[in-house]
Amino acid sequence: MSSLSLAKDKIRILLLEGLHPRAAEVFSRAGYENIRTEDKSLTGEELKQAIAEAHFIGIRSRTQLDREVLESARRLTAIGCFCIGTNQVDLDAAQGRGIPVFNAPFSNTRSVAELVLAEIIMLMRGIPQRNAAAHRGEWMKSAQGSYEIRGKKLGIVGYGHIGTQIGILAESLGMEVLFYDVVDKLPLGNAKPMDSLKELLGAADVVTLHVPQTAETRDLIDAAAIGAMREGTWLINASRGQVVVIDALVDGLKSGRLRGAAIDVFPEEPKSNQHVFNSPLVDLDNVLLTPHIGGSTQEAQKNIAQEVASKLVRYSDNGSTVSAVNFPEVAMPDHAGCHRILHIHRNEPGVLQQINKVFSHEHINIAAQYLQTLGEVGYVVMDIDCPDTGGIIKQLREIAGTIRSRVLY
Ligand code: NAI
Repeated sequence: MSSLSLAKDKIRILLLEGLHPRAAEVFSRAGYENIRTEDKSLTGEELKQAIAEAHFIGIRSRTQLDREVLESARRLTAIGCFCIGTNQVDLDAAQGRGIPVFNAPFSNTRSVAELVLAEIIMLMRGIPQRNAAAHRGEWMKSAQGSYEIRGKKLGIVGYGHIGTQIGILAESLGMEVLFYDVVDKLPLGNAKPMDSLKELLGAADVVTLHVPQTAETRDLIDAAAIGAMREGTWLINASRGQVVVIDALVDGLKSGRLRGAAIDVFPEEPKSNQHVFNSPLVDLDNVLLTPHIGGSTQEAQKNIAQEVASKLVRYSDNGSTVSAVNFPEVAMPDHAGCHRILHIHRNEPGVLQQINKVFSHEHINIAAQYLQTLGEVGYVVMDIDCPDTGGIIKQLREIAGTIRSRVLY
């Protein structure tokens, strides 16, 4: 398809959707000058024209890179999704064209953890209902149903990046931390693993959910799970909307089994800020409702910009594809003193043999060779000691099954 062996000033970077300025800074610090930034997303012909010229593109969730758009992306070398999700990109189409896609799955961990910590305090003090009442002109000055978090039991479901971070923060404020995870996890601090979800639900004063969206976590917190909680438990969900059955949550809140809840994610969320938010929870004073902003802070935006732009620069400069979501992952050392050839091909038998034949025929020594495959695609990286790579690249590109190749000097 294409071969990229360009000087940095010829490599065109297109950054859409008002990315944090740190993204452009990371590129320019790495020596890339040809950077176009747009505050908005592009669509239709405008997007096709812009992407046709770009070697790297950075987007958030609004720009749709479907198969048709990617067909216009003749030069595109990699895609950066400056967000968590990658649904806006046709990952198979990108893989088929030899284009790795990068994202930033964990840049907002701290932001979510801080919000949840604040919510634990708000819920245990009964703030949501007092706040709602005050907005109506009612005065609920009383210590009734108001508690410190110190000494209370926090039950964390899903002890991953966010769950562990919350555990540490909560423990530093004097909470006793319990957790349940389907995978054996090293407890941090004094956190105690629980053998089952049921055991955790029955032991915690406040339960917070931090599981991914999978078939197993769908409806994880249903009527039976709420029934397994102690009378007067608080529930927090800042994970994914499908994890909690909303009708069961409403019943639990009305019956008093649940004393209150803080919900950031919903089974159905408005598509944009211009759409209306509907949920049976809006009528309940003891529920803190937030519009899926657990990870939405300025710091997280900056971290995301740093993380994704760095991954794109590393792929451009060095060939590393670590944490690409649709591509064989290769972690590359630096290649001082030799040329590096990157060869992306269809994952078919015999391609590596043909590649090696080219080098042995030309009497070129391969100093290092790395191969990874994923799905339909194979990725070979070779460090060679040879002053002129032009002829070799031409031969490599002629190998059947080649998708693209490039040389790093
Ligand atoms: P992670 O992948 O680091 O951790 C998830 C943990 O859940 C893992 O330890 C995994 O083993 C565990 N797990 C999976 N299935 C489970 C089950 N059935 N029961 C118990 N544990 C289970 O993920 P991370 O970064 O901690 O994110 C957690 C959730 O938070 C994700 O759903 C993510 O989409 C969501 N999130 C929400 C944000 C917001 O704005 N509200 C922002 C960032 C993440």
